[in-house]
Amino acid sequence: MSEVKFYKCEPVPLELHKVRVVQKLNLVPIERRYNAIQEAGFNTFRLGTKDVFLDMLTDSGTNAMSDNQIAAMFQADDAYAGSQSFVRLHTAVEEVLGKRFLLPVHQGRAAENVISKAFIKKGDVVPMNYHFTTALAHILENGAKIEELLFDDALQIKSDNPFKGNIDIQKLVACIEKHGTDKIPFIRMEASTNLIGGQPFSISNLMDVRRVADKYGIMLVLDASLLGENAYLIKQREKEWAENTMADIIKMMTNLADLVYFSARKLSSSRGGGICTNRKDIYQKMEALIPLYEGFLTYGGMSMREIEAMAVGLYETLDETMISQSPQFIKYFVEQLTRIGIPVVTPPGVLGCHVDAMAFCDHIPQSEYPAGALAAAFYFISGIRGMERGTISSVRDENGVELLADVELLRLAVPRRVFTLSQINYAIDRLQWLYDNRQLIGGLKFVNEPPVLRFFMGGLEPTSDWLERLLVVFKKDFGNSL
Ligand code: F0G
Repeated sequence: MSEVKFYKCEPVPLELHKVRVVQKLNLVPIERRYNAIQEAGFNTFRLGTKDVFLDMLTDSGTNAMSDNQIAAMFQADDAYAGSQSFVRLHTAVEEVLGKRFLLPVHQGRAAENVISKAFIKKGDVVPMNYHFTTALAHILENGAKIEELLFDDALQIKSDNPFKGNIDIQKLVACIEKHGTDKIPFIRMEASTNLIGGQPFSISNLMDVRRVADKYGIMLVLDASLLGENAYLIKQREKEWAENTMADIIKMMTNLADLVYFSARKLSSSRGGGICTNRKDIYQKMEALIPLYEGFLTYGGMSMREIEAMAVGLYETLDETMISQSPQFIKYFVEQLTRIGIPVVTPPGVLGCHVDAMAFCDHIPQSEYPAGALAAAFYFISGIRGMERGTISSVRDENGVELLADVELLRLAVPRRVFTLSQINYAIDRLQWLYDNRQLIGGLKFVNEPPVLRFFMGGLEPTSDWLERLLVVFKKDFGNSL
């Protein structure tokens, strides 16, 4: 366990790892950041890392790798077919996730493509706890719709509900009764529900979902990209599981699902992805799609070095010390911000700290993208790159009408074992300054809006000269400080 009690010092999460390889960072002056955010079209995805100080965009492919992962990469067995690296990965999937059949894919959304192509037909409905952007895009692409079945209070920003990612079973049954089982290819359960602030579901809820799936004969699909963290929070928050190991909890979760898929960029601190199952019929429906879209069945678009790192990373998700580091830093981050009155999603979840942009920028109408504006403003005044998780990350309906997101969040990702506590404190300090000057932040509008997954590459501009006004006050308060 990584919870160490302190004697007289204020308790802080203590790092149980040492840093042996470092990468130098630059904090470029605010004048450069002024140009950089404009060149990026006020979209933090489009910033170059040379202009970024703390990269809190995502944990995807940015978690620190362990010495053992790097070591394993050197024993990669490069072969188009039958590589022993793939055998090692297969063994890891069997031992950690308890699934016998494995289909390798190049990342999580590739799994979503294959699963959607194999199981979804036009007019279908996919019930789920909550969507993730790429999962939704693939379901829509295949002519289906989704229904999100969280409990009503799950979207409340401030909450003490430990399992906001739970599915409301009554809503699930009603959804199935309404559409009929023919129209429901599978139920999708996302571990540590990303877009509502990295919020977990409980094992007892997953068991209830399983019972419904069995009753109606519907397949249960688990998005396991953030499985380790969900398991850790189950251990922390679900009494019945407090004494179990991470291995027990993870196996229990994957055993309850017919099909498990994941982004290895998150789950195993590596790259790549996978789809696994114990059901041969399910495996066979997808098998032919792997060589078509990904690569041969023993590499699936990944390099053998990645596959080796992924195998070791999967075993490391069983290490509570490793998995707990990011949630503990996030808890600290959230608690400090709450203490100084900055609105954030509670209880603290996983992946990152989620600032409530709707409250932070309550003067900006949702149609002017408060979360996008806050992400741009925060980068500008701190050099820290977060990610908009609000209406810009949403879609338009078939008539082109903007679907306003349920929540407008600035996500500040805390990848595993990457940042130090003083860097988190810097983020807190700059957020506090921005909060005190929040009235200066203005809205954004699209100038270049891609039709699919627009948040990645879309370009925006400010609705007024608010960037210039922020610059003046920053200079006044911080002088020549970076
Ligand atoms: N499912 C979940 C829950 C995810 O968080 C992601 C990626 C994916 C699927 C897709 O995986 O990126 O490997 O194709 N989330 C990243 C993020 C992009 O920043 O939250 P991918």
